[in-house]
Amino acid sequence: MNDRIVTVFGGTGFLGRSTVRRLRAHGFAVRVASRHSHQTTNDPNIQAVETDIRSRTSIDAVLTQAWGTVNAVSLYVERGTDTFQAIHVDAARAIAQSAKQLGVARLIQVSGVGADIASPSLYVRKRAKGELAVQAAFPGATIVRPAVLFGTDGGFVATVLDLMRKLPAYPMFGRGQTRLQPVAVDDVAEAITRILLRPEREPTLYEFGGPEVFTYEKFLRAVAHEAGLRPFLIPFPFGAWHLLARMAEALPQPPVTRNQVELMEVDTVAAPHLPGLLELGITPRAAADTVRDLMRAER
Ligand SMILES: NC(=O)c1ccc[n+]([C@@H]2O[C@H](COP(=O)([O-])OP(=O)(O)OC[C@H]3O[C@@H](n4cnc5c(N)ncnc54)[C@H](OP(=O)(O)O)[C@@H]3O)[C@@H](O)[C@H]2O)c1
Repeated sequence: MNDRIVTVFGGTGFLGRSTVRRLRAHGFAVRVASRHSHQTTNDPNIQAVETDIRSRTSIDAVLTQAWGTVNAVSLYVERGTDTFQAIHVDAARAIAQSAKQLGVARLIQVSGVGADIASPSLYVRKRAKGELAVQAAFPGATIVRPAVLFGTDGGFVATVLDLMRKLPAYPMFGRGQTRLQPVAVDDVAEAITRILLRPEREPTLYEFGGPEVFTYEKFLRAVAHEAGLRPFLIPFPFGAWHLLARMAEALPQPPVTRNQVELMEVDTVAAPHLPGLLELGITPRAAADTVRDLMRAER
């Protein structure tokens, strides 16, 4: 399989890192493409390539002679010319166009559960527009929509655990009744790899959720239970969260962003009629296992 090169845009990110590991485990050669990509391994089949998806020249360079590509670039806060339109629509389209022109066989665009062209959230609308732009430029591209991701080196569970330990009281998004289905980052990365391993291109849309659907409050209580914590959970209105997020976004590493708040206002649960992890032969991991792994790593 080493003759098959897969370029992972955003390969240094949370999902990207895991995807690179799973692709290598299945024998692909990988190009890790991001703006701050550095060679961190002696593995000759992992090549770090400094890439900016806002530049077509940069995209073309890293896709030359690639067999496949995964776009796992994120943008959670708009800053200057880095808008949701620029990254999630225009740059995603540019990757798809470049891949088509250079004869790349397979393309996976990472989007998110809930992507919806009619959403009141600008972020969610642009994710949906990005999907359409990619499919138009690269017919047969696969769109994958994960629910909120967790893992031992970042993501939802680790963040929640960290906050629960630091805060005397834990402010919930609204009354904590939004439904979510957290999914293990490594399961999504494995799924992406299995899609690339399949000879057939159908289906072209997957949604990935974990084994359990929680309300936000139930999820917090489940994490706390595993960690032996007894947090004081307080409802906090969405209006106040929006205000807080707007202010937080001025910080270089905002602890909360408006798009996170918007995503917490609607259920983000994988659609049961769409193929997901089980169809790819993956039994999804529970969030509780990751809490236990995190606790074990601390001992
Ligand atoms: N995290 C979640 O819970 C979650 C849930 C559902 C869907 N998703 C989706 O999964 C994908 C990956 O998310 P993530 O959380 O893993 O992201 P992340 O950890 O924030 O990583 C983002 C990656 O994109 C790269 N990047 C950003 N701007 C770039 C640019 N202009 N050119 C090239 N590379 C660029 C970053 O590296 P540099 O900064 O060095 O460029 C980094 O490697 C996104 O599409 C996200 O919406 C995530």
